[in-house]
Amino acid sequence: MTPKLYRELTADFATIPAVNQVECNPLFQQKALREVLSENDVKLEAWYPLGHGNKELLEATVITALAEKYGKNTGQIILRFEVQEGFIVLPKSTNPERIRGNIDIFDFALTDEEMDSIRALDTGKPSHDPEAPGVGEMLLNAFKIHD
Ligand SMILES: NC(=O)c1ccc[n+]([C@@H]2O[C@H](COP(=O)([O-])OP(=O)(O)OC[C@H]3O[C@@H](n4cnc5c(N)ncnc54)[C@H](OP(=O)(O)O)[C@@H]3O)[C@@H](O)[C@H]2O)c1
Repeated sequence: MTPKLYRELTADFATIPAVNQVECNPLFQQKALREVLSENDVKLEAWYPLGHGNKELLEATVITALAEKYGKNTGQIILRFEVQEGFIVLPKSTNPERIRGNIDIFDFALTDEEMDSIRALDTGKPSHDPEAPGVGEMLLNAFKIHD
């Protein structure tokens, strides 16, 4: 959801959610929404943490250079960045070797400068726009939540 949708929805909530799962990865870092969530210490859980396998992200020069430096694959560098940013990450892989590798990100740390170099990849544009015409109606029709 966007900051606008988040504010509209939670205005009616008796209990503020502890976690909000939204699209988030180095190409779309949700900077505006994170500010809103931080007001109530709501944790961000990254949906598409690896950009849905997007090559523009997985093959970005900044990421591949760090992968070489730390002897990791590019997915591991992205996940490490996200963990250091405080995101909850649940990456998906169908490949047993990558599934094992995606957990193996706690034996190194990115420096402040390296974190900044990945922060600079933010385009501010999601792959999915929750405010696009028809999205709200589609979701309300797909889930039975207002009995
Ligand atoms: N809210 C819910 O109930 C719910 C339910 C289900 C899923 N989800 C979320 O929905 C999202 C599903 O989207 P997604 O699977 O496209 O997300 P994703 O985790 O951003 O991307 C997965 C893609 O990245 C590739 N990949 C995985 N590890 C890699 C690595 N180390 N290096 C390079 N490529 C790697 C995978 O290919 P390979 O398979 O070939 O490794 C796959 O193509 C996930 O964020 C999941 O947590 C939410």
